[in-house]
Formats: sequence, structure tokens, C-alpha cells
Amino acid sequence: MKIILTGGAGFLGSHTAVELVNEGYEPIIIDDFRNSKSFIIDNIEKIIGRKVIFHCADIGDQNKVSTIIKNEKPAGLIHFAADKAVNESVLNPLKYYHNNIGNLIKLLEVINNFNLSSFIFSSSCTVYGEPSCIPVNEKTPIQPAFSPYGYTKQVGEKILTDFFKTKKQTSLTILRYFNPIGAHPSSLIGELPLGIPSNLVPHLTQTAIGKRKQLTIFGNDYNTADGTCIRDYIHVVDLARAHVLSLKNKIMSNNVYNVGVGKGSSVLELVNCFEEINNLNVNYQFGDRRSGDVPEIYADNSLIKKKLNWEPKFSLKDALQHAWNWELELKSKYKVD
Ligand code: UFG
Repeated sequence: MKIILTGGAGFLGSHTAVELVNEGYEPIIIDDFRNSKSFIIDNIEKIIGRKVIFHCADIGDQNKVSTIIKNEKPAGLIHFAADKAVNESVLNPLKYYHNNIGNLIKLLEVINNFNLSSFIFSSSCTVYGEPSCIPVNEKTPIQPAFSPYGYTKQVGEKILTDFFKTKKQTSLTILRYFNPIGAHPSSLIGELPLGIPSNLVPHLTQTAIGKRKQLTIFGNDYNTADGTCIRDYIHVVDLARAHVLSLKNKIMSNNVYNVGVGKGSSVLELVNCFEEINNLNVNYQFGDRRSGDVPEIYADNSLIKKKLNWEPKFSLKDALQHAWNWELELKSKYKVD
């Protein structure tokens, strides 16, 4: 069964391609490498031991995407292709509205002409804003967005829900990711942040390897046990498996799932765990709070566990070990700025 992955060469897309193959699906990757590199495709092929179907295309190019869908005849589509840096979205909101919303609409206009049985959307726990009750479940109210990025995820969910009401043959699944980290255990694929990483784990691994001078922990005066923010860090392979299970256990309506491990870890706990598991010392300092950060959020993941039989297999330690192995691999084999 063929499944299109828009943004399939990205961090989440590449791991999902591998997990799809493991479960007998045929991923069709569409990517234009704006946030990735072509060696990721080569390395997916090394992991799966064969060629993968790949099309270089901008997801906003309706003619190209339409031709790909017409020729490949996929059963489903997973839409990863989007911009995801919260800070950048504040500085350049139009980039986010153009890509995350404009190109989503263009994609839906194309698939309106085809009969897909499944569509999976990459959403985010950012839709919950600063929740008044933790852990958050799927019924936790959506709060006003903290950033243009967050707003694009809220609007994206709404656009898709409205659109798929008109396409009764397609099952829509919305996956609200918490904080994806780690890398494939083979160290052949992982996260490739462009420029200075805004997310914690790539900044941590780049500091540990000497690419960055110091990690700043944004705020140690929050109302949490050690004063640093709390997040739900999920191994990227576990997150990828959630997509495969969504395809396998297709339900026709109301498929919104939190995908997190269901446990909060503080920034300081994560940094200490990284140092311990990899036997390293990281140069870090405490700095001011970062604007827009919520103090604490983690998932109530009981719905996805119950309905899709999903369980995270990897621990925080595993994820931080895999992230470090990937950083070492990047340094030794690839030239990535
Ligand atoms: N952090 C630091 N130093 C850094 C980077 C991050 O202390 O250099 C802290 C942040 O302040 C935060 C935690 O590490 O407390 C996690 O930050 P990330 O940037 O890694 O992740 P966020 O929780 O901010 O963002 C993630 C996803 C977004 C998503 C958001 C929803 O990256 O896509 O969760 O809350 F929208």
C-alpha cells in the first residue's frame, strides 16, 4: 500500500518512511530539501536495504503534486511538509502563513480530485497554549495561539476537519506531537537543524560536540521543582510508529490524538540525563526566560494507547544517546552547516 509523505526527507518524515517499510507499506517521499539534505534519502535506503520512491517537488506546485498522485495512486497521505520554528514564525509570520496554510490549501485542492482512504496531519501540543490543567487530553480547550506557528497548527486542524467532512471516504487523523527528540538507532538519520538550532536537544548536542560555545537554559525561576520548564520528550521512532498505527487502525471520525510519553521532564533533568548517559560535561548557563514558553506541559496519552494500541518503546535515556550518536555521525561523515 503506497503512502505519500510530504516532507518525507525531514526529521519526522524520514523516520516515518522507515517505520512504514518495516510494516509493509510503500512510502512515496515528496520533498524539495529546503529543510533537509539529499543524503537522508540515501541513508533511508541503507536502513531499509533497498530503493525508496522519491520525488523532488515543492508541495505548493499543484501540477507536479497532482501528476505524482495520479501516477503513484497512493492509498494515503501523511502531511509533514511545514515550517516549525516558533521564533522564526514570530519574525517572519508570512512565511508560516504561506507554507503551513497556503500550501496546505493547495494540497487539499489537489487531493480533492483523488480518493485517498487516509490523511494524517502533523499537529502540535502548541494548540493547547498554556493549559490550566496538566496533563492535557484531547478535550483540553484550544487556547489563543502563542505564535504564528501555533496559529497555523490550529487553523490547519480546522481547515482539514471542515474539508474532510466533504470527503466521507477519507479518514482524517490529527496527531498532536509533544517534543520529538532522538534519532534512528542506526545513526543514519536524525534531525538536521539549519543554522543555530532553536530546539533544546540539537542545541545541546551541538554544544557538547563544540559547534556551539554554550547552552543557555531559558529560565530557572519557573514554578517547577527545579525551576526549569517541563516538557514531554518523545523518541522520534515512537512518534513515527504512531503514524503507522494510525494507518493500520483507520477509524472514520474524530481521530485526534496526543502523541507524547505522558511524563514531564524538566530542562535540567534532560541536560543531566544527557551528561550521565553519554559520559560528558556540557557547558551550560542559566539565562532569562524565553518569551512564549509555557512553564509545563505533558500529555495524557491514554486515548492513543487505548484506541491505537500505541506504547512508547524508547526511554529519555535512549533518545539522548541516539541524538548524541547522530551528532557524532554528522561530524565524522557529513558537512552540515
Ligand atoms: N530550551 C532551553 N535552551 C535552548 C532551547 C530550548 O532552555 O537553547 C528550553 C525551552 O525554553 C523549553 C524547552 O527547552 O523550556 C524545550 O524547548 P524546545 O524549543 O526544544 O521545544 P518547545 O517546547 O519550545 O517547542 C516544541 C516544538 C514546537 C511546538 C512546541 C509546543 O519544538 O514545534 O513544542 O509547545 F510547537
